[in-house]
Amino acid sequence: MRPIGVFDSGIGGLTVARAVADRMTGSPLLYFGDTAHLPYGEKSPVLIRHYASRISHHLRDQGCRAIVVACNSASSNALDAVRDAVGPDIPVVDVVQPVVAHLADRWPGGRIGVIGTRATIESGLYQRLMAAKGLEAMARATPLLASAIEEGFHQGAVSEALLEAYLGDGGFDDVDALVLGCTHYPLIADQIARHLPPHVHVVNSPDLVAEAVASLFPEEVKADAAAEHRFLVSDWTDSFALGARRFFGESIRLEASDLWRS
Ligand code: DGL
Repeated sequence: MRPIGVFDSGIGGLTVARAVADRMTGSPLLYFGDTAHLPYGEKSPVLIRHYASRISHHLRDQGCRAIVVACNSASSNALDAVRDAVGPDIPVVDVVQPVVAHLADRWPGGRIGVIGTRATIESGLYQRLMAAKGLEAMARATPLLASAIEEGFHQGAVSEALLEAYLGDGGFDDVDALVLGCTHYPLIADQIARHLPPHVHVVNSPDLVAEAVASLFPEEVKADAAAEHRFLVSDWTDSFALGARRFFGESIRLEASDLWRS
């Protein structure tokens, strides 16, 4: 079976790959983490589009039957570039639109917070899509969180201090829900929830994205045996290899890709 291509700036998108793998058990995934260029969250839209476009071409050339943009920064800045790269026959799922559709269903007319990288928040995409669905958006960039989580500083004093700095002013106390608009944040979802009043729902995107991917292939039934996945990174280091387990939830083997050397 042709794989589903999943890409991110690095290993954070493995939280999305995990949810897709759980939902589409018989479907092989081809994951690409652009570790040579992370963080996308601090890059310009032009550069993010350039990287995302080239990676999408590569995944299409590897035979992928769909592309999942498992990165909020790329979904917010480069979706049209990805669509142009793969053409009309390969469906593209991003991590923003399925979430906004869910918000509009669940909290019609609601006030919704979103946190993410600078590139994600400054693109204004969440804000525009929410406004188009009659939701009021409260967006804030929380740029240091992803790198702290990637370094393994999650569920501890460092992430606690960062959350206090980013959420401690009570700016999200009157929202209905807070969207975790970055692939790394599911790892600290519980900790984020503790910084919010109990009525604020924390919205994690991986399961919503997996549902959107599954809806593309309605005829596919759950398989008994798990499919074989491949995980490529554009720059292989020990720390990425170790970190991958945290994000995917089990040990996986990262392979070095030479995409940027060719
Ligand atoms: N994966 C990125 C995102 O969801 C976060 C890490 C980065 O800045 O590259 O926006």
